[in-house]
Amino acid sequence: MADFDKQDFFTDPAIADDNTGYVAHMRSKCPVLREPHHGVFMVTGYDAALEVLGTRSGSFSSAVAVTGPIPPLPFTPHGDDIREQVRENRPNMVWTEHLATMDGEEHAKNRALIQQLLTHKRLKANENFVAGLVIRLVDAVIDKGACEITEDFAHALSTLVIADLLGVPEEEHAGLIDLIGLPPTQMGGDAGHKVQADPLTWLHDRFRGYLLDRKANPRDDMMTDLVQSRYKDGSEPTLERLTRLACFLFGAGQDTSARLVAFSFRVLGDQPEIQAQLRAEPERIPDFIEEVLRMYYPVKTLSRLAVEPTEVAGVAVPVGAILTINTGGANHDPHRFPDPERFDFNRPNVRDHISFSRGSHACLGAPLARMEVRVALEQFLSRTSDIRISEAHHGPRESRRYACEPTYLLSGLQALHVEWDKA
Ligand code: HEM
Repeated sequence: MADFDKQDFFTDPAIADDNTGYVAHMRSKCPVLREPHHGVFMVTGYDAALEVLGTRSGSFSSAVAVTGPIPPLPFTPHGDDIREQVRENRPNMVWTEHLATMDGEEHAKNRALIQQLLTHKRLKANENFVAGLVIRLVDAVIDKGACEITEDFAHALSTLVIADLLGVPEEEHAGLIDLIGLPPTQMGGDAGHKVQADPLTWLHDRFRGYLLDRKANPRDDMMTDLVQSRYKDGSEPTLERLTRLACFLFGAGQDTSARLVAFSFRVLGDQPEIQAQLRAEPERIPDFIEEVLRMYYPVKTLSRLAVEPTEVAGVAVPVGAILTINTGGANHDPHRFPDPERFDFNRPNVRDHISFSRGSHACLGAPLARMEVRVALEQFLSRTSDIRISEAHHGPRESRRYACEPTYLLSGLQALHVEWDKA
């Protein structure tokens, strides 16, 4: 039996594989509890999480949204209002130039820029692309009767969907797949040249090039819209800013959705009765996806920095403290979701999870993610009669082995081997 009080949430690989016990233990003590290893306030209660993301969000900075307490702050907070210190120290902090970590006015104006590009028309056109892409991806594996979902299907799907949305031309998709290091599949890439470094760094030059090209040669695509966009006050964003926004969109849309696809297949494989129901009632697939998001949440933690003394759920949080919302804690809070470990897409509040966050930083790509996973599942389910988890790789149903990526920010299966019968 694990001693949860001794486990370090941010570094213990056992928690990366399954944090259910840890968050339940923390919540049972208090929905907002300071853990001993990094002094982080762990938020594991649903109402407390909404307080941080909603009514009390003004007391927090998102500068640490991605990194949490690792690495430590590059300054020692002093005084009762550290907003200015956070602003001054941003250049010394990692990841702080991306949308998810911006604060206040800077965040609002850049978010508005992206929001105005994600139009219904753009998403509709993207859905047509997704439908064709999914058919091609399923065609590539269907006759084999088995595949490793994350590499053979999910990553290619999510990468190419976001590439199409942004306007990376189809003839360059194979090169993109190639650069990211995905298997070539039928896209014709050569998996030899893998990019191991931070994808957003190497993407930078490529997207800068695309934006410069669209400035000179406008097309009907989102990168053209981006390069022609203006802030609400009429001022023009710099090319550097636009490049970072495009890279962030690509990164945010690429990896998270792939994780959701893999988790969905895990549930389908583990619960054949759900498969049967969804084949008979495909209109229930959206509810199924919401329950997968509640149960498995690709973004595991949302961290914030207290920029003034505040309190959450009645617990005092001092200025300079880092607070980490456990998505799983909130999504599995029995006060909000009765019998939380049971997969039940008939829950009346099935969309109440916080897997896309809430408030001013809530995910801008949620409609896209929901759409691409829905189209993928519709297609896969209609062309198979029985999707099974490979026992050779993951063990028998009573004692499955699923390895997750060892990170405290994102949650994802390292691999998922499935088999099926063709319909
Ligand atoms: C299942 C898939 C996805 C999940 C679970 C997810 C989750 C999240 C979460 C939790 C946040 C907020 C982080 C915070 O509050 O600190 C976020 C922000 C964001 N997501 Fe997603 N995301 C997904 C897919 C996408 C896609 C496909 C796109 C792109 C089209 C996207 C674009 C963004 C952007 C731009 C933000 C930043 C919003 C802001 O800071 O104002 N996401 N996402």
